[in-house]
Amino acid sequence: MAVMRAAGEREAAGHGVLHLEVGQPSTPAPAVARRAAAAVLEHTPLHYTDAEGTVSLRERIARWYAERHGLAVDPERVVVTTGASGACVLAFLVAFDVGARVGVAQPGYPCYPTMLTSLGCEPVPLEVDERTRFQPHPTHLAAAGHLDGLVVASPSNPTGTVLDTDALTALAQWCNDAGAWLVVDEIYHGITYGTSAPSVLEVDESAIVVNSFSKYFSMPGWRLGWLVVPDALVDPVRRLAQNLTVAPPTLAQVAGLAAMDATDELDAHVARYATNRSLVLDGLRRCGATRVAPSDGAFYAWAEVSHLTDDAQALCARWLDELGVAVTPGIDFDPDGGHRWVRLSYAGATEDVTEAMERLVHWCTTER
Ligand SMILES: Cc1ncc(COP(=O)(O)O)c(C=O)c1O
Repeated sequence: MAVMRAAGEREAAGHGVLHLEVGQPSTPAPAVARRAAAAVLEHTPLHYTDAEGTVSLRERIARWYAERHGLAVDPERVVVTTGASGACVLAFLVAFDVGARVGVAQPGYPCYPTMLTSLGCEPVPLEVDERTRFQPHPTHLAAAGHLDGLVVASPSNPTGTVLDTDALTALAQWCNDAGAWLVVDEIYHGITYGTSAPSVLEVDESAIVVNSFSKYFSMPGWRLGWLVVPDALVDPVRRLAQNLTVAPPTLAQVAGLAAMDATDELDAHVARYATNRSLVLDGLRRCGATRVAPSDGAFYAWAEVSHLTDDAQALCARWLDELGVAVTPGIDFDPDGGHRWVRLSYAGATEDVTEAMERLVHWCTTER
């Protein structure tokens, strides 16, 4: 967010910025979703919905699992939320007591540890690297001491790596044996390259799934997401949702329902991300980066820049200042080793990504 702010200040001062720092699609919600929302705005008062979301959206989400994963998910187990963020808070609240020890990948999405800490839980960092494709593995869990839960993202932010069926099965097995909750954040599902991301529900019905309309569905500002929870958690989650937020946003639910049928438009965005991904990975290679996480999905490349600096924050400040290219330093994703890593987002326009990588390659190969 600090990089985004600095980039915004630079733009306000009249200088251009090529944005490789933003973790969100550059495109609007699908056209059918915007039309559906406009029609409702015009003709229908926006009342609260059920705390767990509308029946039609929950049924559509359940059908999504049939279409994408061949799974029969009971719509009763689906709870619509205010984004994946709202879904995580609800899931953590119902699953974990104060003092619970919960494993999180490092590098990983920084809001998990913050949310867990704010709820009185203890996030337990699991240091991951290329040996386990930047994802937790049972060996990390065994070394972590007692755990009450594990939170993973597949594809991951910041690394983009996907947990395949075997990896998910191994984590689910470990958590079941240990009596620990497994929470899998599937927010980047639908955005993968040459591989597909299995849902944890394919291997473990007792896991908690987090998902969202913010990434594949290109609707980050609509603040809509969902949980799929095991039967035992349906009531507790609904009651908490009712008390904490009354209901997820009504207008967004209407738009989200329509968006789930806009896969042609959405898959075209993924095709653009794939083009951008090749440009970024090629550019990083030309910049001399040798440790780059396998970018299986999402729209991120996670790259070590220790051949350029020991202070990625200062490096990103220089790139913004000298090149007008905004990149995220790794420190938030990994407080220990992140000063040697950066995250590049390729969710933007291909022309911007092309130009940004040319500037970075030129800087890395000549100017510094
Ligand atoms: C892994 C991960 N989970 C959750 C979120 C939050 O998503 P939402 O906009 O649905 O709250 C993000 C946002 O970037 C993310 O990267």
